[in-house]
Amino acid sequence: MDSLEDIQHYKEAKASMECPFCKEKEMRSENAEVETEEENLPYMLQAPRYTLDDVFLPEKSKLQVDEALAKINNFHKIYIEWGFKAVDPCGAGTVLNFFGKPGTGKTMTAEALAGTLGKKFISLGMSDVESKYMGETAKNIRAAFECAKKVDAVLFFDEADTLLGARLSNVTQGIDNEVNSLRSTLLIELEKFEGIVIFATNFEKNYDKAFVSRITHHIQFDLPDQEGLRKIWDKFLVPQIPLDGDRECILSKLADISLGLAGRDVRNCMRLALPKAIMHDNEDESVLKLEHLVSAIGEVRNHEKVGTEVSKSRESSRAALRAIGVKINKEETNNQE
Ligand SMILES: Nc1ncnc2c1ncn2[C@@H]1O[C@H](COP(=O)(O)OP(=O)(O)OP(=O)(O)O)[C@@H](O)[C@H]1O
Ligand SMILES: [Mg+2]
Repeated sequence: MDSLEDIQHYKEAKASMECPFCKEKEMRSENAEVETEEENLPYMLQAPRYTLDDVFLPEKSKLQVDEALAKINNFHKIYIEWGFKAVDPCGAGTVLNFFGKPGTGKTMTAEALAGTLGKKFISLGMSDVESKYMGETAKNIRAAFECAKKVDAVLFFDEADTLLGARLSNVTQGIDNEVNSLRSTLLIELEKFEGIVIFATNFEKNYDKAFVSRITHHIQFDLPDQEGLRKIWDKFLVPQIPLDGDRECILSKLADISLGLAGRDVRNCMRLALPKAIMHDNEDESVLKLEHLVSAIGEVRNHEKVGTEVSKSRESSRAALRAIGVKINKEETNNQE
């Protein structure tokens, strides 16, 4: 994938892959409030659609999120009344890292945290800050922090491993400098930012240690246990859907047989099951049966065989390089392998 066309292709594919099943991005833009003073901002502000009450997390992750929230809400007490500011003058900002398996609610929790705090939300991926022009990517990062500061929004960086990946030590070309400059900028911005920044990744091992130590709250997102699954199924089985059988029994059964699935998988199961309920019955009697849901769970489990995970740190660095438009030479690739 060396030519400019290929790089463009990569970017388009990446953009379209962000959410293969849902149109969350589009929904977000429809929901985004466009206020006059916000129109000139370089990044889009979103009005959060969730609060933390909408997210069902395993106990440990929930506790960690609540502790981060307590720090944010009690800043004055901790830093001023208790005088902690004297020894931690730069502690006003809160930096969180959400890591874990796909579909476990990292993006949703970031948005929900903003919702609970009553703040706006700015969500950025590498493709939002990247630029093929020298110096522009670091500039875009600075602009994102400025923008978040100006409107007191929660700043969210998705696929953060690309951004926080290990800095290149072998600086031989201008383009390497570019990647290093964007990461140094990010370190500086994180140090001085007094708001809330959240990073999310599936590949936390690719983070540069310099970033790891600057992030206070590292929160792991695990797959839901049976109790968590029951709550997530309960949320997606909205009351208006006609159910065949006792709701509580169905929920228990579903929580039992869907162990190992993530929250997003449950949503996908529902998307697959609902048309089954309509197609297999005559319209007057359309009703969702356990068998529709069981069959949908089977299909979703089968999806796990499709696709692969790209988790090597080299891939992360290469993605960053590609994103800012550098050619990756075949020989170099072979040498690294
Ligand atoms: N813990 C959860 N509680 C409630 N709903 C959930 C949960 N996890 C996932 N979902 C549902 O799945 C959708 C997708 O989850 P989300 O995009 O937040 O996952 P993610 O961890 O960010 O995945 P990825 O690593 O692929 O970015 C959510 O919008 C929500 O509808
Ligand atoms: Mg996500």
